[in-house]
Amino acid sequence: MKKNNLSTALIHVGRNQRVTQGSVNPVIQRASSLVFEDLAQKKHATINRAKGELFYGRRGTLTHFALQDAMCELEGGAGCYLYPCGAAAVSNSILAFVEHGDHILMTGAAYEPTQDFCNKILKKMGIETTYYDPMIGADIANLIQPNTKVLFLESPSSLTFEIPDTPTLVQTARRINPNIVIMIDNTWSGGALFKALEHDIDISIQAGTKYLVGHSDAMIGTAVANARCWDQLRENSYLMGQMVDADTAYMTARGLRTLAIRLKQHEESSITIAKWLATQPEVKAVYHPALASCPGHEFFQRDFLGASGLFSFELNQKLTQTQLEAFMNHFELFSMAYSWGGYESLILYNQPEEIAKIRPNIHRTLTGTLIRIHIGLEAVEDLITDLKHGFERLK
Ligand SMILES: Cc1ncc(COP(=O)(O)O)c(C=O)c1O
Repeated sequence: MKKNNLSTALIHVGRNQRVTQGSVNPVIQRASSLVFEDLAQKKHATINRAKGELFYGRRGTLTHFALQDAMCELEGGAGCYLYPCGAAAVSNSILAFVEHGDHILMTGAAYEPTQDFCNKILKKMGIETTYYDPMIGADIANLIQPNTKVLFLESPSSLTFEIPDTPTLVQTARRINPNIVIMIDNTWSGGALFKALEHDIDISIQAGTKYLVGHSDAMIGTAVANARCWDQLRENSYLMGQMVDADTAYMTARGLRTLAIRLKQHEESSITIAKWLATQPEVKAVYHPALASCPGHEFFQRDFLGASGLFSFELNQKLTQTQLEAFMNHFELFSMAYSWGGYESLILYNQPEEIAKIRPNIHRTLTGTLIRIHIGLEAVEDLITDLKHGFERLK
């Protein structure tokens, strides 16, 4: 059955009799050895080991297959590779398509460890990275070299939330080099709000740690590839020893059942709070993709199906250490922690000079302290009260 409605699809996909064995959810099949009945079955499993046949634990078990099916349905791919965390999904997706002497284009607003991977690991391997401003548009053409193998996007940008003109970036790169491999860190959209592969992107990467798991209690990375790139991504990642345990795969598939409804609530609550923040005298600007004050808002409106719950806002001033302590240390509902995408609200800050340091080649400067918040599933009024008290502590 083909299910067009995402909520319906995510409830039913990856739950056939083979993987559920009569229960509602897929079984948790923990295994290294998978036993063959006879030589004929061993031969069949060997031939089909990359096509959903049980072969050896590192190739996946029924639990992994169920999640991979669900991810392919969610993102419209030919295959989905599972990694132990989002960072592993990013690095292994790039590594699968580059070799010594190659060049890649990376958004200058990428998640910081993604930049570190380029600056440290790729550099050591003789692979050069050029960082581009996410708002560069068709001028990306000037940065593409004969040895450019990968164009890497992240939308929206980490921390500063610019939305690139993705179709222009993709079409420009393809016109110059039809074989360039285009990948995106699509974590913010949960794979549901931005259909990367429909925009001619080859690989959609997620830190499934965030919205897929949804409960801040497991780490996983996913990379959904189109038919052109799937075999190479799968075999390279397999040779790098990438895999995830069956329990985490199970938790991720369970998270997917409620992804659509969670995202809807994150969207509604985060937009309400973003609009409230925009009216506060302490706030210079709110960088929520659904608000006009966010660079690239017009591309968000054109290309995305909705918003999730992570955004930032810039204060009118750069807070002193004393002000930071007063503001950050006393929230009742917002916890101070890395990561995001769970059911709970989180808060972090960055000073403008810290932002500038991790934004190579970006023509946008901030002057006030930047606060990044993830809006969880608590009641909006309670979260606003918590933020209001934070502003009062600055007076
Ligand atoms: C946009 C983005 N990509 C990738 C990652 C890395 O994911 P993980 O922490 O699962 O390695 C993160 C983590 O915060 C992230 O925010």
